[in-house]
Amino acid sequence: MVKPINLAVLISGRGSNLQSIIDACAHEDYPARISVVISNEPDVMGLQRAKDAGLPTEVIPHKSYPSRREFEAALSETLAKHPVDLICLAGFMRVLTPDFVSKWEGKILNIHPSLLPAYPGLHVHERVLHSDDKESGCTVHFVTPGLDEGPTLVQKRVPVLQDDTPDTLAARVLDQEHLAYPEAIRLIALGKVKYTKDFVEIGDAGPYTHPVKVAPVVEPAEPPAPVEAPKAPVIAQAASAPVVKQDPKPSHSAPIDSHHMTKETQTMSNHAPADNAPDQVTIRESEAMWHYFTKTAKYMVIGIAAVLLLMAATLL
Ligand code: GRF
Repeated sequence: MVKPINLAVLISGRGSNLQSIIDACAHEDYPARISVVISNEPDVMGLQRAKDAGLPTEVIPHKSYPSRREFEAALSETLAKHPVDLICLAGFMRVLTPDFVSKWEGKILNIHPSLLPAYPGLHVHERVLHSDDKESGCTVHFVTPGLDEGPTLVQKRVPVLQDDTPDTLAARVLDQEHLAYPEAIRLIALGKVKYTKDFVEIGDAGPYTHPVKVAPVVEPAEPPAPVEAPKAPVIAQAASAPVVKQDPKPSHSAPIDSHHMTKETQTMSNHAPADNAPDQVTIRESEAMWHYFTKTAKYMVIGIAAVLLLMAATLL
């Protein structure tokens, strides 16, 4: 068994590729270990994944640094605190300067969701869907100063389907990314890759067999806002048709942010009255009619009684 190499994984967000590397490293015979996970964004899901796996994490918020160089100086300082043989950019959304890249030449990998050299940069899936391409995929490549330009290590292909949206295509490509990154790291860790300024030679490391299955991405659940008992509806009569207006006060004690609402609370706040719910206007109308009817009957009884009394008095 070869001595595992040490990885620094750099992220900016969701961290599903980080998770695929964490899962691969969990296998005893996988020839790499993660020594640190670094994010340029605080509070991202990738950091939570790293913490859940018991990995050291560091946050270097790029916004706190006046320039890219100062940010990279802090990054270099942080890297120096951990054993690092290979840097893996996994959804890391900062462009690194040529200075930084040249210090780590041959030791930085990136993953890109296209078949490079096609579609470097952003909005890859939209651009693929606007083309006639029948295939897309992902590329793990060495990082060089040019954006998404370095030599390719591993590529995986997927079909582009007729009814694809950017999201469905991205999901199909992402599944392949989760295989491609651990495979590329393994090639390097097993010494199968020769990298010089002029050429990259990739040997055969045999098939990569670890089944890497990254759990679907689930946004952290927020507790639903407490729901008060529904308030009695306010009834407003219109000249022609009766209108029932809902109490304008929200039935939630907390302000409603539709983005954070659960399905249930959304249904509750948007719903029309149920079909079998009593119609308040109809109830009021029936009550009025009943009142009118009893009042009329009362006067009729009094009238009849008076007539009978009058008749009796006349006869006597
Ligand atoms: C991936 O699609 C990767 O190719 C691109 O950014 C995305 C990161 O996703 N560079 P994740 O954070 O690893 O889930």
